[in-house]
Amino acid sequence: MPLTVALWIYRVYFHPLSRYPGPASYKLSGWPLSWQAYQGDRHIWHLKDHEKCGPIVRIAPNTLSFNTVSALSAIYGPRSANVEKGEWYKTFDIAAGTYSSFTETDREKHAVRRRWMSPSFSAESLKANESNVIDIIERFCGTLKPKDGGWGEKWNASDMSTYLGFDIMGALVFGADFKTVQEEENRVLADSILPASMLMYWVSYLPLAFLVRPLLRTRFFETVGSKSVADNNRLIDYSQSQARIRVSELREEKRAESGRIDFLSHVVEAEDKKTSLRPTLPDLGTESLNMINAGADPFSGVLAGAFFYLVHNHDALRKASEEVRSTFSSPTEIVNGPQLNSCTYLYAVIEETLRRTAPVPSHLPRVVLGGGMMIDDQYFPASTVVGVPMYAIHHNPAYFPDPFSFTPERWLGNVPELSRRAFNPFSIGTRQCSGRTLAYMQLKLTLAHVLWRYDLREAPGEVGRGGGGKGMGVGREREDEFQMWDALGFGRNGPMVEVRARE
Ligand code: HEM
Repeated sequence: MPLTVALWIYRVYFHPLSRYPGPASYKLSGWPLSWQAYQGDRHIWHLKDHEKCGPIVRIAPNTLSFNTVSALSAIYGPRSANVEKGEWYKTFDIAAGTYSSFTETDREKHAVRRRWMSPSFSAESLKANESNVIDIIERFCGTLKPKDGGWGEKWNASDMSTYLGFDIMGALVFGADFKTVQEEENRVLADSILPASMLMYWVSYLPLAFLVRPLLRTRFFETVGSKSVADNNRLIDYSQSQARIRVSELREEKRAESGRIDFLSHVVEAEDKKTSLRPTLPDLGTESLNMINAGADPFSGVLAGAFFYLVHNHDALRKASEEVRSTFSSPTEIVNGPQLNSCTYLYAVIEETLRRTAPVPSHLPRVVLGGGMMIDDQYFPASTVVGVPMYAIHHNPAYFPDPFSFTPERWLGNVPELSRRAFNPFSIGTRQCSGRTLAYMQLKLTLAHVLWRYDLREAPGEVGRGGGGKGMGVGREREDEFQMWDALGFGRNGPMVEVRARE
């Protein structure tokens, strides 16, 4: 006990970060941050703390959160920034046996992984896979189709977007046809992604996470853990088994026969030109799992957010629908290309949804390396953990006036320089999202196909599902804000939507 008190006194009065503001409990230990991660409310607390304490807040004894564009560029932007991904990432993939391009903290090792992955995300790979994506989207639209004239049955946009995201990523990564949108009994893996991600998210934030890491794939953890542990293990096993199949196909030269061009096949064949390193079997398992985790759920969350904001903002829904319907004379014309890119209002709806509903909304930790670094004209020593939470900066009125209104128009015409610089749903710099172009392609295609075919409305009797309200907790009062429970990808429920064939 005297040692703990001594540590607290050191942290509050003598620690190198002692002069930065923040609630007293944050200065004493990392437990408040873990609790917020467990609750899924971390993004809300970051915003509240910045509103109360200013642009720099001490959110844990050794961790600072910033809410300025200058800090965003300094920390995440330049290749030369003296930071790497923080300790938090070291727990996330460990049950899979090795780090992925998402969780590798070492900058050199990450660069190798990124080079292994790049053929999957190249323009040629996306072009080759586009028709696959469109087929799945068309099937999704077919499933929503009302049986008779008039409004069809209500569907939960969060759930259906999850299944669509999983079907698309399953096809792209594994060449699989999961049909989770259509078949309820096929949904076990898709339903595992978010609970598994939420579990690993808060476990990784435990102040003593390094003690938990060796336990993650043990019977003990399976026994004491909840269903999410089983979910996490199921996903790991699936991706590892797929990786084994691909490697044996390659050895037996069956790939030419199967004609697969899925992402996993690209990675199986990868060899880094600089180091001559090739991915091992565990690397293949973890990279394919990473593509499913990092790819399916963020897209699904943003799509659900777009449905929420469209059914709550009739003017935006009307303008986006009119634009798509006047640009294309039939849905078969809706492919990725100049015509789709000319739908500037649709694009603005996506940008505004990404601003309001950035699927990785909290502080993404970076640790300062030896020699320290300058951020916003202040010096920070090595080992300081720094970051800029997206939800806070995307709702900072200095960058986005009236930040809690859904206003696609802010992305049309001359967008202020500061708004552009503060907008970072895919992060920026060397660790920014590899799937950014693919994500935009999926979002634009899905929304264009749905809006071309259908009128949309919030199901009567289900008004408000997905939004905030009284009694939902601090920062969750706004009925017109799509609610996120922060993780990698985020928890969500709603809105309940109905469609009818366009008039
Ligand atoms: C709207 C959809 C998406 C959003 C908003 C998004 C956002 C992000 C963000 C913010 C990061 C950086 C996280 C960090 O620094 O810890 C990231 C990383 C990553 N994302 Fe996405 N993502 C989306 C879709 C996708 C898709 C479709 C894929 C395809 C597989 C993907 C693959 C990845 C990968 C591989 C990384 C790790 C990059 C690296 O560190 O080299 N993402 N994403």
